[in-house]
Amino acid sequence: MTGYLRNYQKEAANVKEQLNSVLTLSVNGKSFDLSVGAGVHDVSPSETLVQTLRNRLGLTGAKIGCGQGACGCCTVIMDGRAIASCMTLTLDCEGTEITTIEGLADAATGQLNELQQAFVDNCGYQCGYCTSGIIMTAQALLDEDPCPDEVVVRDALSGNYCRCGTHYTAVDAIMACVEKKQKEV
Ligand code: FES
Ligand code: FES
Repeated sequence: MTGYLRNYQKEAANVKEQLNSVLTLSVNGKSFDLSVGAGVHDVSPSETLVQTLRNRLGLTGAKIGCGQGACGCCTVIMDGRAIASCMTLTLDCEGTEITTIEGLADAATGQLNELQQAFVDNCGYQCGYCTSGIIMTAQALLDEDPCPDEVVVRDALSGNYCRCGTHYTAVDAIMACVEKKQKEV
């Protein structure tokens, strides 16, 4: 038996084991139990995280653009890293901590966090379709490096595309947030 066939059979056995089980997702600090299976109300083995977030949990901030990992519209933070949720299977997310754009604002007051507010103050968007993905990529960067320079910010955003051409104002918004933080230190 070839290695490929062995791996395929192992994968198939894993998926079979997961069917008719319950998957627990941790999103924005809350736990969600979802049934796994082939029914219309179940998470199927091929369902992507962005589909689950949008269609089952009502978290529509992550957008579907290309659906193949190229545009960054669906970016969320998983265990501290910005990831493309259109390229991530929901079944692989158990045991991880996921943050979506809805999880950035203050849960009690709804007040936007500093980065979100900087986008508002600096008009860092036009139609807004790409904006949550850009903010989540930038948030993951700022969580790791609170004071990046503009080159680092641009590099981090290289996987986020904006059809309206607001990259410049998005970078301005992020740098304004960084400068504000630096003044506060
Ligand atoms: S929709 Fe996920 S990267 Fe484009
Ligand atoms: S603001 Fe419209 S796609 Fe970016």
